[in-house]
Amino acid sequence: MCGIVGYTGNKQAQDIVLDSLKKLEYRGYDSSGIALKEDKLVICKKEGPISNMEEILPKSNSSLAIAHTRWATHGVPSDANAHPHADADNSVAVVHNGTIDNYLDIRENLEEEGYKFVSESDSEILPILISKYYAGDLVEALHNSLSDIQGIFTIAVIHENHPDEIVAVRHETPLIIGLGNSENFVASDIYAVLKYTQQIIYPDDNQIVRVTPESIDLFDSSLKPLEYVVETVEKYTEVAEKGGYEHFMLKEIFEQPKALQDSQTELFIDNPLEGLSLNWKIGSISIVACGTSYHAGLVGKYVIEQLTAIPVSVDYSSEFRYAAPVQGVGGILSSRPLVVLISQSGETADTLAAARAAKQQGCYTIAVCNVPGSRITREVDGVIITKSGQEIGVAATKTFLTQMQALYVLGTHLAFNSGSLDHPQLKLWESEIRKLPSKITQVLNSSEGIKSLVPNFVNAKSVFFVGRNINYPLALEGALKLKEISYIHAEGYPAGELKHGPLALLGEDTPIIAVAMQDHTYSKLLSNIEEMSARKAPVITLCQKGDQHVPKISDKYFEIPEIDPVLSPFPVAVFMQLLSYYIAHELGTDIDKPRNLAKSVTVE
Ligand code: G6P
Repeated sequence: MCGIVGYTGNKQAQDIVLDSLKKLEYRGYDSSGIALKEDKLVICKKEGPISNMEEILPKSNSSLAIAHTRWATHGVPSDANAHPHADADNSVAVVHNGTIDNYLDIRENLEEEGYKFVSESDSEILPILISKYYAGDLVEALHNSLSDIQGIFTIAVIHENHPDEIVAVRHETPLIIGLGNSENFVASDIYAVLKYTQQIIYPDDNQIVRVTPESIDLFDSSLKPLEYVVETVEKYTEVAEKGGYEHFMLKEIFEQPKALQDSQTELFIDNPLEGLSLNWKIGSISIVACGTSYHAGLVGKYVIEQLTAIPVSVDYSSEFRYAAPVQGVGGILSSRPLVVLISQSGETADTLAAARAAKQQGCYTIAVCNVPGSRITREVDGVIITKSGQEIGVAATKTFLTQMQALYVLGTHLAFNSGSLDHPQLKLWESEIRKLPSKITQVLNSSEGIKSLVPNFVNAKSVFFVGRNINYPLALEGALKLKEISYIHAEGYPAGELKHGPLALLGEDTPIIAVAMQDHTYSKLLSNIEEMSARKAPVITLCQKGDQHVPKISDKYFEIPEIDPVLSPFPVAVFMQLLSYYIAHELGTDIDKPRNLAKSVTVE
């Protein structure tokens, strides 16, 4: 949430930070701003997308700048609440990601001391505190300010007396430093700087970093100088271009065969699972995640339980982190729980906190993550990287499929380790999983058929998605996709549960998407479709190729390619994504940047 970039070097900073900031717009996009060092500090900020700010930004030759794209927490999106914030005489400018929990008390004290505030933002206390403590050393001034504040934050600061210096710190939100040649960068994540450098420093919580064109100084929380490690990260070549597609989301949906294929190379050839120590007797598995990643976790539960008979629970990270200790911890270590954290970004605040809670309780932790080097990958015991490439659309698509694939492979690996799958069975699974990219391509080739369903939804009051067993999570994901990008109210339900309440809402203006795969729940699902049709709700059913029953009882149907029902969540997901995309497109919403949302949620 909120994107931060900073540049200090030998070039004009303005174009560089604007270019980098645009790569972070998926983190928040309700307003943006930039602070540049001319004779004095110059600050320009504006409500709306970065392009709004760019229109009013005067040209500057400054070689020092910090910039910000905002996702509002305290205070509505407005010019005044946009960052950077400054003190009254514009000597200090600050960009902040996170929340300051005790800002009201601090603000009240500062107001009593005579300081004036011009915004509703919690972040405005920061430049005022830093200016108050400033006595010639910006690192010290930030350090002293930190002892007053509580919360989570990444902060980057510049001062008019320090023409080539950026000082930054993080506490539970992301910060990276990019090293260039006589130029250095500060940013929320590596995507902002990869065009310029692949040499990255990852400061830890509460370490303060001073960045100039020729130097990086890292200090611990008592201002003792620290050594730092520079890591070289992989360059993503395909990022940030729509490649002829109208939206990133559509491009990312169509990239799914490649994303699955690339991830298969990682999973089956590089085989990170071999490197994880999973040979002990796993008593239970906890899967923990947010949003779409949580839905991947739910699919994972069905697969892993079916393959291994190990009980799997799936929790939202925001609940898990405050829940009672995981059962079994403190018991016999040989049957301790395995905790699998799923996060495409690797920086979701609640999932990170959940990982820390699990580690504290002595669990073995694994992250399924799409961003190598991200925070979560640095904190857990083992990592499975999904090779989706950068995902820019706020609504997750290709990362969902690669997360599910990683969990299927994890399931087969655990089953093989525990003896419930033999080697030929393991290989059979691998060969079925390897066919997924071509199955997905077949769904993508039927996109016109999916588009033709759009008129059934554009006037809907509400849409219900129903499924059973392994496709119940797909009902949840279908509903999430639709509400995220079209703003139509949608709910996902286990098909058998509608009669316990939601049937009261059904009628002609509440279309249903039903997923009817020919597994052991098939006949029950057909009965559920009859129940819904009897309440006059139009039912559009996803079925397997050649299904004889679904066409007779559904208003419309869509056939997915021939596939074992246990693998059907993959093509079903693609149908859900494309349907939501086309509905949102028809309604004219901002598909890649839906209102009020952000891709990386680094606050609680
Ligand atoms: C946000 C995004 C979702 C994503 C969720 C979890 O809400 O908009 O698309 O599923 O965060 O993100 P993570 O990076 O932890 O998978």
